[in-house]
Amino acid sequence: MISAAENEILTRVGPDAPMGRMMRRYWQPVCASTQLPSPDCAPLRTRVLGENYVAFRDTAGKVGVLDELCMHRRASLALGRVEEGGIRCLYHGWKFGVDGEVQETPNHCDERFRARFKAPAYPAREAGGMVWAYFGPKDKEPPFQKYEFFDGPKENLLVFRVNTPANYLQLWEGGTDSSHVGILHSALAQPQWKNKPSFVPDVEDYASVALAVGDNAPIIDIENTQYGYHYAAKRQGPTLPDGTQTYSVRGTAIIFPTCRVIPLTQYQFFVFEVPQDDERTSTYIVAHGPKAFDRGKMLGVLGLDKPHLWNERDCDYRVGPENRYGQDRSRMNEVWSGLGGLIPEDASIGASMGPIVERHKEVLVAADAAVVRLRARLLESVRRHEAGGEPFGLSIEDYSKVRSLADTNIPKDARWQDLLPNNMGLGARQSEPAE
Ligand code: FES
Ligand SMILES: [Fe+2]
Repeated sequence: MISAAENEILTRVGPDAPMGRMMRRYWQPVCASTQLPSPDCAPLRTRVLGENYVAFRDTAGKVGVLDELCMHRRASLALGRVEEGGIRCLYHGWKFGVDGEVQETPNHCDERFRARFKAPAYPAREAGGMVWAYFGPKDKEPPFQKYEFFDGPKENLLVFRVNTPANYLQLWEGGTDSSHVGILHSALAQPQWKNKPSFVPDVEDYASVALAVGDNAPIIDIENTQYGYHYAAKRQGPTLPDGTQTYSVRGTAIIFPTCRVIPLTQYQFFVFEVPQDDERTSTYIVAHGPKAFDRGKMLGVLGLDKPHLWNERDCDYRVGPENRYGQDRSRMNEVWSGLGGLIPEDASIGASMGPIVERHKEVLVAADAAVVRLRARLLESVRRHEAGGEPFGLSIEDYSKVRSLADTNIPKDARWQDLLPNNMGLGARQSEPAE
């Protein structure tokens, strides 16, 4: 059971909070690459861990991440002009490079002055359809962590950003909660729930939940890893012709500080729940696989095809009690939730709990085991960091072999871990037994 005090530790992400300090030790996504579509395009104001930044793409296509407010007299650089290899503040024309170099100060013509100062700029990289930055102590910059979706043709990668009015943790918990999949996402997971008895899941489909049906009280089997944990949701599977009993297992990996790897039949989703502040989250949904995606089809599957609730320009998910978190009850005869698809269902449920859920008031059951583990591992990592140690997984450079597992039938006495051989293959096995 999480106490109110532990809930504070888990959810507060500002610069003076223990979780905020830990989160700053990792590279964090700051925007989707598509939000900076071309050299010298409009700059983007972006909020990460309770602080505001401006991200921009210079004339050569390089990305920069600076404090939002100009170092001179604090006008917003998000209003600035991006031109000639830098971003220029509108107020007095000071101009800065992607690394914070002060290139011009039109109202102060002393070159030595320009050489003496630098604008607050953060190490920034672009990879996997996202811009990443490091906001932690300068002398502690960790390796830039590589994920599977950094490789391969661009057509095989889709990145969507959804800004949701809820604390990051309640959204992340939804992503490590296998037992809601066959219920909240019924419209995708089991379309036969209403008048469609002959429905057969399409294994080519983009829907990640199409197979997680039939048993909504899965056994949750968890194994800690150096970077967090991975777990299998085991559902009752068919009996094989030789009488062997099986489980249908579905495996998910949780990678600190904000990522989970979710299975599709032929693809994987990497989802990052990056805190904007204590009460808002930038969710980055990355789909990656061996074939090109149809972006329009994927938008439909994810439920991101309703422009009054979400658009790709500002990425804000516009829900709250005033619009019933996007629910259309007139459609609930055809679709289970009335919330309009996979991502809206997760985001609306997370937002409906209020900005920061009061975890000490919950009533938990065995199916919540992976959620409980997420909180425990986060607290463990924060406490280790506060005591002067390294948070989980910080020094791992390559996550490209960490996988999820789409629903697969295996004999009841078989090890699901054997189907995910590289998840522990980072030389990182930890000794704690699973709960
Ligand atoms: S405030 Fe930006 S140049 Fe003066
Ligand atoms: Fe979900």
